[in-house]
Amino acid sequence: MKKLIATTLVAAVTLSVVGCSQSGGSQPTASGGGAAPAGNPKIGVAIYKFDDTFMTGVRNAISKAAEGKAEVDIVDSQNAQPTQNDKVDLFINKKVNALAINPVDRTAAGVLIDKAKQANIPLVFFNREPMPEDMQKWDKVYYVGAKAEESGTISGELIVDYWKANPEADKNKDGVLQYVMLKGEPGHQDAELRTKFSVKAIEDAGIKVEKVAEDTAMWDRVKGQEKMAAFLAASGDKIEAVLANNDDMALGAIEALKASGYFANGKYMPVVGVDATAPALKELEAGTLLGTVLNDANNQGKATLSIASSLAKGETPTKDSTGFDITDGKYVWVPYKKITKENMNDAK
Ligand code: GAL
Ligand code: CA
Repeated sequence: MKKLIATTLVAAVTLSVVGCSQSGGSQPTASGGGAAPAGNPKIGVAIYKFDDTFMTGVRNAISKAAEGKAEVDIVDSQNAQPTQNDKVDLFINKKVNALAINPVDRTAAGVLIDKAKQANIPLVFFNREPMPEDMQKWDKVYYVGAKAEESGTISGELIVDYWKANPEADKNKDGVLQYVMLKGEPGHQDAELRTKFSVKAIEDAGIKVEKVAEDTAMWDRVKGQEKMAAFLAASGDKIEAVLANNDDMALGAIEALKASGYFANGKYMPVVGVDATAPALKELEAGTLLGTVLNDANNQGKATLSIASSLAKGETPTKDSTGFDITDGKYVWVPYKKITKENMNDAK
């Protein structure tokens, strides 16, 4: 026991000495548990899962933005929070200068923040927004994402525009828009808010709505196809529009619709998604996807990398140093954009 206390004391003294010699005061300014790096900073990046179309775009944008600026190590959390926690521990042991994390479960952010703070390694979350109270736990925690409500509103507007321009869209002539909803992962801010705000935009335009069915397809194309096939089997003739929280699920729905004879011989169904991924733009061009919302993977990746690099160098990120507006001292909001066949080049 005595020996343990003695060792702890020595460690504490050593730590405080190191702390003083680095910062010359009580506030440690260096990042990564050590001095600011001499060469390019090391950044540990964890993606919730590699097998996600949109996140693959963000991942590629991070790698590209890092060229010549930072050394990034990007790992796959395989859709499991315990796996992600282990990977973050490894990054901390390797003394990376900053972390960039796309959490598997956004309610786990608090635990990750505690780990990072303990090691004094600044942390940028992206795409999956931590709870506001977790974001307040430390001043070296940032978030890069997009306003989920905005994407919901835009996807609802795409349906409104179609409904107003095409009176035959009201197939049963009851003056009510019967829709089905393909939801992303429950609890994800983008799934909850896109669902809510897309319907709200339609109602705000003075259109009465009736929800025929709603189910989660977990952002996944195959699941989107299965769920849409089930909706069609249960109430095919009743459905007048398909709202999907992302493009992959919209593309799955289009497959199921094609298998039921849609998009041939004058049989049509308006389908909207979010993301503007490359395969979605193809369907837009083909006329099967009515519209989508650009979720700007490129700028989200760039912003994540530049905020993380700035923090890794021991700086406080600013618009000048990163090229991005920072709101409330810790948020970067990348705007969404409405995409139809007419302006699809803007999304390429
Ligand atoms: C959303 C995106 C989805 C999916 C999800 C993952 O922003 O629209 O397609 O990638 O993020 O968290
Ligand atoms: Ca109707």
